[in-house]
Amino acid sequence: MRVSVVGGAGYVGGELVRLLLGHPGVTLAQVSSASHAGRPLFGVHPNLRGFTDRRFAAPGDLEPCDAVIVAHGGDGGGPPLAALRRLAPRLIDCGPRLRLRDPAVFRAIYGSEPEPADLLAEAVYGLPELTRSALAGATLVSGPGCSAVATTLALLPLARAAWPLAAPAVVEARFGSSAAGARPSASAHHPERAGAVRVFAAEGHRHGAEVAQALGWPLDRLSYAGVAVEMVRGIAVSVRCFLQEPVTEGQLWSAFRQAYDGEPFVRIVAQRQGLHRLPDPRWLAGTNLCDVGFALDPSGRRLTLLAALDNLGKGGAGAAVQALNCMEGMPETAGLTFPGLHPL
Ligand SMILES: NC(=O)c1ccc[n+]([C@@H]2O[C@H](COP(=O)([O-])OP(=O)(O)OC[C@H]3O[C@@H](n4cnc5c(N)ncnc54)[C@H](OP(=O)(O)O)[C@@H]3O)[C@@H](O)[C@H]2O)c1
Repeated sequence: MRVSVVGGAGYVGGELVRLLLGHPGVTLAQVSSASHAGRPLFGVHPNLRGFTDRRFAAPGDLEPCDAVIVAHGGDGGGPPLAALRRLAPRLIDCGPRLRLRDPAVFRAIYGSEPEPADLLAEAVYGLPELTRSALAGATLVSGPGCSAVATTLALLPLARAAWPLAAPAVVEARFGSSAAGARPSASAHHPERAGAVRVFAAEGHRHGAEVAQALGWPLDRLSYAGVAVEMVRGIAVSVRCFLQEPVTEGQLWSAFRQAYDGEPFVRIVAQRQGLHRLPDPRWLAGTNLCDVGFALDPSGRRLTLLAALDNLGKGGAGAAVQALNCMEGMPETAGLTFPGLHPL
């Protein structure tokens, strides 16, 4: 199938191009950029030198194809969806504009007008571990937020087990700098960002609403903080949960195994000892993996859930390609089998 990438000069766009070039069932059609039209892709994404001599197309020159993946940054969320949908029968939007079902919640969080209700109703959330059957044959898909993927996958076994919480779950999501995109900004300026351990959302990070929606929880069951840390790629999430009734490690293992046995991209990493006993985003760079783990205190009531991923992989471009595979009925792992690097 022929797939075009809109917003291809950004970080998610570059990763999409890398993945699609290696995808056995996809031919890369066009890659658009308003700001780099006419320039070779490798001028912006140097890792692609020698793998493609293609040039960025101007957005107005996009031609019909089989699927469009939109990776446009900025608060506006990118070109109008209606125009993009005329290009292809399938569209995946990596941005936030289709993620939240409730227009009032979207307005409150993003401060802009949501997409029309019919589009919000049609869009399937692109997290196959939750929505695999709805993704099959879907024509409009919303890519999930990077930390929302990690947090949702950390919490999903607990949510499915329906263990009641004594207090809201306390999420701390640590973000690598590429999560903020390729556009320069004051917070991305090297003297400000290098060495950062900066809390940019002490509470109420915007991905909290998405996680609550995905789990079917009320928003106030989560307290969600965001911290900028010294990484380029990567999200590391910890979720502190205070349970009403104690659970055992055996129950935890069985809840996690039930949720993730057979899942190609979720690994349970919860060993008792060893250097790599819990999820670490460093070893996931370039992969479509999300590692999830847990630690339980002796009372059985204080549970820490952990997850790590590459924000441009399972948290961004990889998620979009996995969703595309599900939509098209291609093998779910097609184009996504890179196992990561160690050491790095
Ligand atoms: N970065 C991540 O980790 C991540 C993860 C999951 C989802 N996402 C979502 O994926 C989308 C792309 O993210 P990204 O990080 O790749 O974005 P990005 O690098 O900031 O930008 C991608 C492209 O969007 C356009 N753009 C960016 N900022 C703009 C602005 N202020 N005004 C107008 N156009 C702007 C530019 O396109 P032109 O070249 O055409 O001008 C740019 O090349 C976003 O919606 C983001 O929310 C990002």
